[in-house]
Amino acid sequence: MVRVAIDNDIYNRVGETWWDEDNPLNLLHGSMTPGRFAYFQKILGERVGRDFTGPDFTPLRALDIGSGGGFLAEQFARIGFQVVGVDPSPVSVDAARRHAAASALEIEYRIGVGERLPVPDATFDVAYCCDVLEHVSDLDAVIAETARVLEPGGLYLFDTINRTRTSKLIAIKILQEWRLTRVFDTPIHEWSMFITPAELVRVTERHGLSVGEIVGLGPRAKNPLRLLDFVRVGGSSLSYGELSRRLDFGQIRSTANSYMGYAVKR
Ligand SMILES: C[S@@+](CC[C@H](N)C(=O)[O-])C[C@H]1O[C@@H](n2cnc3c(N)ncnc32)[C@H](O)[C@@H]1O
Repeated sequence: MVRVAIDNDIYNRVGETWWDEDNPLNLLHGSMTPGRFAYFQKILGERVGRDFTGPDFTPLRALDIGSGGGFLAEQFARIGFQVVGVDPSPVSVDAARRHAAASALEIEYRIGVGERLPVPDATFDVAYCCDVLEHVSDLDAVIAETARVLEPGGLYLFDTINRTRTSKLIAIKILQEWRLTRVFDTPIHEWSMFITPAELVRVTERHGLSVGEIVGLGPRAKNPLRLLDFVRVGGSSLSYGELSRRLDFGQIRSTANSYMGYAVKR
């Protein structure tokens, strides 16, 4: 199924500065990256063990599908994975390469799309796709490709946005439509492209990936008044990186807005 278009060119327009705390894309960094990664590390510990090397002592290989500025690629590289990142945005790929080099991390970045991954069959122990599935034009093709490049028994880690009334309010109205609160003035998301957990389970199962768990992903900050921080961001008194840290994203019970989880290739 080919889905409707959204403004994916934003990753070229502002992708040069993913790592700059004043870039709205940095919302994915402050606490989102550590929050998602803490959950993935827990799953890796349970499913793979703590030693990320293969039987011949070479590092395990991870594929980052839609690697953006490299926030998660760097996390995986730091714990010993050999990481390949794939993203269609040349500007983002360039920014990710520069940041990895400045951080003395060896990560290979390639330009490409999830629908046609530029890597051979059965080459990765782990593949992950975070905040990307809701951006792709052909979800079925992306999952089919993910299954193709994973080794049998390989681990698929993901997070994405659920299609609910809550996500319509938060991701569409608050984050991109309402003038006082919006972070993006362009349609980076389209509600109909969000994916329910049941839909994701169906498509992954169809391609030989068995979902093991789905949990909620969201802000853990206690005070809902922190939402007012969004307004203050407009007045530029708070960086997006700092806003992200204050919202303290991570594993929560509710899957009403975003969720994350894992699947295993049969
Ligand atoms: C919201 S960003 C997420 C970046 C990164 N995964 C993270 O969580 O920090 C979405 C990314 O998906 C990429 N993207 C868009 N369409 C894609 C596709 N068809 N295949 C792979 N990546 C895609 C964009 O270029 C962008 O870098």
